[in-house]
Parts: sequence; structure tokens; C-alpha cells
Amino acid sequence: MSATSELLIGAMAFLWLVQGLPGPRLTSASEAPAGPPARGDVHTLGNPDQIRVTHVDLDLTVHFDRKEIAGVAILDFERQPGVGADVPLMLDTRGLSIVAVGTRASKADPLGPFAPAPIQLAPADPILGSRLSIKLPPDARQVRIEYRTAPTAGALQWLEPALTAGKAHPFLFTQSEAIHARSWIPLQDSPGARLTYSAVVRVPKGLTAVMAADSLVKPEEAREGVFRFAMPQPIPSYLIALAVGDLAFQSLGPRTGVWAEPSVLKSSAHEFADVEAMVASIEKRFGPYRWGRYDILVLPPSFPFGGMENPKLTFATPTILAGDRSLVSLIAHELAHSWSGNLVTNATWRDFWLNEGFTTYLERRIIEDLYGPDRAEMESVLGLVELHDEFKDVPPKDQVLHIDLTGRDPDDGMNRIPYEKGALLLRTMEKKFGRDRFDNFLRSYFDRFAFHSITTADFTAYLKDHLLLGPDDAKAIDLGAWLDRPGLPAGFAEPKSARLEAVDRTAKGWLDGAIATDRIDAKDWSTHEWIRFLQAMPEKVLAAKLAELDRRFGLTDRGNSEIAHQWLLIAIRNDYAPASARLKSYLTTIGRRKLVLPLYKALLATLAGRQQAEAIYATARPGYHPITVDSVDRLMKGAK
Ligand code: BES
Ligand code: ZN
Repeated sequence: MSATSELLIGAMAFLWLVQGLPGPRLTSASEAPAGPPARGDVHTLGNPDQIRVTHVDLDLTVHFDRKEIAGVAILDFERQPGVGADVPLMLDTRGLSIVAVGTRASKADPLGPFAPAPIQLAPADPILGSRLSIKLPPDARQVRIEYRTAPTAGALQWLEPALTAGKAHPFLFTQSEAIHARSWIPLQDSPGARLTYSAVVRVPKGLTAVMAADSLVKPEEAREGVFRFAMPQPIPSYLIALAVGDLAFQSLGPRTGVWAEPSVLKSSAHEFADVEAMVASIEKRFGPYRWGRYDILVLPPSFPFGGMENPKLTFATPTILAGDRSLVSLIAHELAHSWSGNLVTNATWRDFWLNEGFTTYLERRIIEDLYGPDRAEMESVLGLVELHDEFKDVPPKDQVLHIDLTGRDPDDGMNRIPYEKGALLLRTMEKKFGRDRFDNFLRSYFDRFAFHSITTADFTAYLKDHLLLGPDDAKAIDLGAWLDRPGLPAGFAEPKSARLEAVDRTAKGWLDGAIATDRIDAKDWSTHEWIRFLQAMPEKVLAAKLAELDRRFGLTDRGNSEIAHQWLLIAIRNDYAPASARLKSYLTTIGRRKLVLPLYKALLATLAGRQQAEAIYATARPGYHPITVDSVDRLMKGAK
């Protein structure tokens, strides 16, 4: 069959194309009929409710020179009962070049040939990408797709050596959540459709590939640049993850360890020394860790997020390497996703709060267990401040947990509301029912839904059957108000921190002139207390007072990324010139969206700041991840 041969099947209105080996990308003129959305997931073009992909076997070759992954994906699938033989398999793709597609009858014969299959690649939707439809012969059990990723693939960041810690080798990492897996693998990219996978990854000699999966590599293969992985637990597609670079490993405990570039390995291992204890902490209350190993990969500073809960291997920003373990709640958070998120998964992106709200609650339980209630409470209070700030910026219809994201990119629904409002719902239930009862409920919830994807309605049904049993319980926990109404319901369990209140008094005294700068007693302040102090500053503070603070506490030179962030916000608002070099180096070395975006926003408030922002961004932009670039671009355009 030649690459350009076309096959018209029956007397239909649309065109099916058969692609041979190898050939140019073909697109058809019109679209295949839409499949039903997967359990209400409006962000997939796949049809897992009709034909469910259950396993993918990947063979990926990583080409740094072309910024391309050349892939072969062999998909196993199951036709659901009652689904007619004429229904094609529908997959999500975005920007993929499809080289060849074939089907075969049985996976029993691994060497059996794949027969070329008729396909359709629909025109691209700007958010969802292109549906790939594959006609299946009645006896087909597997499809094989040979493809190449686009250099602009949303899930991939290709880093030049200059953007790594070691500056000598290139680096690649993936970020598939929410709907970016489709930009590097053709599959049903819905969190409601779980699958297992296996992978062979071929990389240039000297580099190491890691995946969020079990590693099956043999040393002699690794020397040749060939790595093998398996993920035997069924996971949603957004948890498929790969990184390639100059990586080294250090063990932290019997089942925990850290991967990082060699020059940051030691500091990373020091920062994460408590991780084994974190696993034990959550296990004793909420059930076993079901994923085997728990490792952490420290990425280069352009990683756009704080952390990503890729199973067995959390991806983390190096901006949490503070030296004093004060920012490890992020690790507690990503680890907690091993229960809430990876084990029990949001079935659609409108149920995202089931992932993030539960996880934020569990994160703080871990922090309490390891570092005490004071610290957990400080983190809850700081979270509540972020939530109130978010409410100021977000329209009422989006201040709900069960958010309607139809027609929007699910990444746009990612603000503090699902995290903090979600966590407060759980906290409020804990206070109402008591910790023991609530813990038992959560544990049974994880057991009941382990390795399943569930909707908000599945959760509320379970809650009503297992916790809200008394006649007044439903009144005390007004689910409608939490899930479907804006703001916070009356009677939510408000966190309080005496230590942060003491900081507030100090800040007020200093601002009023009642406390002189050299009388501020901050020698025992934690990172959290510093953040609170700096957040307590009003819009305008006299430059002379800032200079005093800076002289006494060395704020411009602080290495802690969160404290530096708060200080730089103040410096921008007050045109505090001594911090401008630090601001520039901060924005050009860190690409974590949460840390850089508010700084650009603050700069854009004045004309001089705007010029500074443009100059810095011109230098910084090539080093940012597409996700950060997209956000900053939009901010800059909006401000014009
Ligand atoms: N799963 C999220 C990251 C994410 C969410 C990526 C949605 C893409 C789309 C992760 O668990 C997370 O919440 N990370 C936070 C840190 C956490 C401590 C709040 C982040 O990166 O800021
Ligand atoms: Zn999270």
C-alpha cells in the first residue's frame, strides 16, 4: 500500500486514508462522527466508553538535535459490549505526525504483521488537538501507530545545556497534566480511562532516561542508551512521564530516593531526608503505599510547576531546595497524590478538586505529623490567604469546586480554589466528625476506589452512604454550598495560627514606628513567619525603611525562593533599586510559573516597570517552559 493511497469505504461522506511505511502526514477533508464523551469528559476526542485502550507499549527514540521524539505505540484495546463493528477507535493527538497505522488480530503472536489501517486525522481544535480515528477489522485486537512529535509539543521541554545545572548536557522532560499527553503519545487522553504501559526509550549515549514507572534497565543496555520501563498499575494518561538528562541517583531509604543532576544531588538528598518518614506517616492512617518505590526527580529550574505527582517518581522544582527543609510541604503534597489522585483519580477535569483538595488536606496532615501542629496550621492559614486572594480575581461562577470547564483549557481552571476550598471542606468534616471517624472514612474511600477514576457525584454518593448518616449531618455539611456555590460556606473550619498572629503584631508595630528595625525579634522565625511578615507590608513602604530591613536581615540576598519572591514583590511596588539586579537574576534563572508570574504582574503596574519587565522577559523567555511562556505572553499582551 503506498503512502498516499486513499481508500473510500462504503458510500460515506468522509474520507478514510491508509498510510503506508513511511510517508507524509495526510489529513482528511471532513470529520468522523463524534464518539460520546468519556463519562462526561469534554476534554477528550477519544471514545473509551466504546472502545477502551487498556495498555500501550511504547518504543521512543529521543532526538535532541531535531527536538523530536520518534515513537511507535502499540495499543491493546477492548470493544465494549454492544458497540458495533463499524465504530472506529478514536484517539487524542495534538501536533503529531502520523507516519503509519496498522492493526493485527492477536497479541499472542508478537511478530505477526500489522495490516495497514484506514485512518482519519481531523482538523485540529485549538484546545483539544486532532482526533485520530482508526477503522478496525472485526478481529483486530491491537493497533500500531508510528509517529513523530512536533518541536512545539506542549508536553515536552527541550533544554539546551546552558539551561541545566551542569551546563554540559541537554535535558528533556515531559509534563502531561492536564491534557498534554496527546502531544507526545497518541492515546485516549482522559483521566477517566486508565491504562498500563511498557516502554523502551532510546537516548544519546551518556544520558540517562527515567520514567514514572518501574525501571527494568540492564547496565549494559543503559551504557548503550537504551532504557526499559513498565507501569503495571492502571493509571490515567496524564501520569505518563519521561525525563532525559545527565542524572544521578542517591538512596534516601528502603523504598525512597532522589534523582538529580550530579551537582545538585547532595543538596537534594539533604532537603528530602524526611521522605521515608512521610510515606510511613500517611500509610499508617490511610492505607498502604501501593506503588512500590517512591523517588523524586529534581528538574532544572525552568520546570513550570512546583511539583508533579508522576507515579513512583515525583517531578520537582529545584526552587524548593532551601537548605532547611522549610519548603518540603511540596513533597508531602506530591507524595499524598499517591492516594488522592493517582490511586483515586478525578474522572474528568471538572472533578479536579477531588485530586487537589484531598491532596492539600493530606499534605497538611503529613506536615503536622512530622513537624508539629504549629507548622501545619501556619501553612493552612497561608493557604487561606491565597484562597481569599483568588476569590478577588475569579468570577463567582468559577469559585465553585465542581467547575464547568466546557470550551476551556483545563489548565485555566488551575488556581488555588480546588486546592484550598477543597482542603477546607475536608478539614470542616474532620472537625465535625472527629479525626478518628474521618480518618476511617478516608481510608475506606481509598480502598473502595483504588485504581478507579471517579466523579464528584461518585464521591458525594459514597459520602452520604458512609459519613453523612445522621439527620443533621447534611445540614452541617452543605455540599451544595461547597460544590456549586461561590465563596466559602458559613461555618467552615477556619485555621488559626498564634505564631502568625504574633508576626502580624510585629509587622504592625514596625510599620507604626513602635518597634525599631533593630528590635524586631526574628531570630527564630521560620520561612512561614517571614512570608507572613512580608505579606503584611502595605502597597507602599518608604525606601529608607526597606533599606533598613534589608541591611538588618539581608533580604535581597536570601536564597529561599519563597522569601525572595515576597521581598521582590515589595521591591517592585516601591521601586527599591538595590533589589533590581536580584530581580533580574531571579526572573532569568527560575521558570516556575507561580514564582515569576506575580512579579511580572507587579512590574506591569507602572510604565518604568513595564519597560523593565519587557527587557527582562526578552532575556528570560527562551529559557521558560511553554506553559510559563503562554501565561506571561498573555499577561504582557493584556497589559498593552
Ligand atoms: N498536579 C499538580 C500540578 C498540575 C496541576 C499540573 C494541573 C498541571 C495541571 C501538582 O500536584 C501541584 O499541585 N503542584 C503545585 C504544588 C503544590 C504544593 C500546591 C504546584 O506546582 O504549584
Ligand atoms: Zn497537587
